[in-house]
Amino acid sequence: MKVSPGQALDILLNGGVVALPTETVYGLAGSAFDYEALEKIFKVKQRPLFDPLIVHIGSKSQVYKVVKHWPLYCQKLADTFWPGPLTIITAKHADIGPLITADQPNVAVRMPQNSLFLELANAVGPLAAPSANRFGKTSPTSADHVEKEFSGQVPVVDGGDCEVGIESTIIRVSETADGTLSVLILRPGAISETDILNCLSIYYKKLEVSYGTSKDSPGSLNNHYQPDFPLIIAQNSIRWNETLHKEICASLKLKETAKPVFWDFSSNDPLIVARTLYKEMREKSDELKAGSYIFLTLPIAYTKPRWVAIKDRIDKSCTAKIKKIAGLPQIFLKNKAL
Ligand code: TXA
Ligand code: MG
Repeated sequence: MKVSPGQALDILLNGGVVALPTETVYGLAGSAFDYEALEKIFKVKQRPLFDPLIVHIGSKSQVYKVVKHWPLYCQKLADTFWPGPLTIITAKHADIGPLITADQPNVAVRMPQNSLFLELANAVGPLAAPSANRFGKTSPTSADHVEKEFSGQVPVVDGGDCEVGIESTIIRVSETADGTLSVLILRPGAISETDILNCLSIYYKKLEVSYGTSKDSPGSLNNHYQPDFPLIIAQNSIRWNETLHKEICASLKLKETAKPVFWDFSSNDPLIVARTLYKEMREKSDELKAGSYIFLTLPIAYTKPRWVAIKDRIDKSCTAKIKKIAGLPQIFLKNKAL
C-alpha cells in the first residue's frame, strides 16, 4: 500500500517498517535502534538472522552513532562517494545491536543519495534497510515492484524508479602493519574498483584490492536475486536453435513444448544496463508461462572489469550457463562444475 512521506515518518517513529526509495534499489526501512522494527524487517523479508543489515544515515555526522572508529580512509571514501552507492564495513558502535550485525563486531553503513530517504533518516535517526524483497529474490527498483513483491501488504513511499538500479558496492578496508591499505570488495556495484583506488591512492601509496567470497559477507550466497523462472545465460557467440533448445529442456527437465523468452541487454554501457536490469528481469518473468525459460545472450564485453557488478548479479540469478567448449555449446547447470 502506498503511503506519503508523512505517514512513513509516523510508521518509523512508532517502530514500524516502510519501504523507501534509494538511488540503488528500494529498501525496507526501520529504526536501527528499535528492536521491534528490526525484528519486523527480518520477519517481513523472511530473512535468516545470520544475514546482517546495512545501516543508512541521513547526514555524515550520523556515522558516529553507528561506528566505533572512523579511520582516515573511511572519511576519504565518504567525502568522495557519499551520498551515494557505497557501503563501508567497519567496527560497530556499542549501541548497534546484534540483530543488525548478525552478532559480529562489524557494521555496514552507507548514506544513500535520495533526499526523501535522507530527510527521514535525519528525523528518525539511522535506518536499517535491506533491499525490499523476499529473501533471495530480485531487488525492487520501483514502488510497484515492492507492491507486487509483498502483495500490497507493506507500506511503500513512491519515489519513482531508482537511477542506479543495482545494490551498492560493499567494501571493507584494513591497514596492515607495513602501511598497506587493503580493500576487500564484498559486493561489486556502480562504484567500481577503479573509482575506489583512484580515491584512496591520493592518500595511500601502497594499495591492494581483492574480491570477497560468501564467507566474508554472510548474505552473499551463490543463489540470489532470483526471478521466478530459470534464467539461462549464453556466451555472445552462441545462437539459440532447436537443437540447443532440446538440450536445454533435457538438462533442466523441461517439456520440449517449453518456449524461450529472449533477452538482450539494451545498451553496451553497464551503468545503463544496471538501471533497468531488475525491471527487465521482472518483465521477462511476467512474459513466461510455466515450464519455460529466459535465454539471455551476454554482451561481448561481459567479462571485462566494467561489467563486474552486472556479472555478479546475473551469475547469482541464473540457473545455467552455456559456453562454447571446443567450438560446441555446452550447458552447465549452476552449482555443478563450471
Ligand atoms: O544498495 C543497497 O545496498 C541496498 C539499499 C536499500 O541500500 N541495500 C541492500 O541491502 O542491498 P541487503 O540487505 O539486501 O544487502 C546487504 C548485504 C547482504 O549481503 C549482507 O550480508 C551484507 O550486505 N552485510 C550487511 N552487513 C554486513 C556486515 N556487517 N558484514 C558483512 N556483510 C554485511
Ligand atoms: Mg538484498
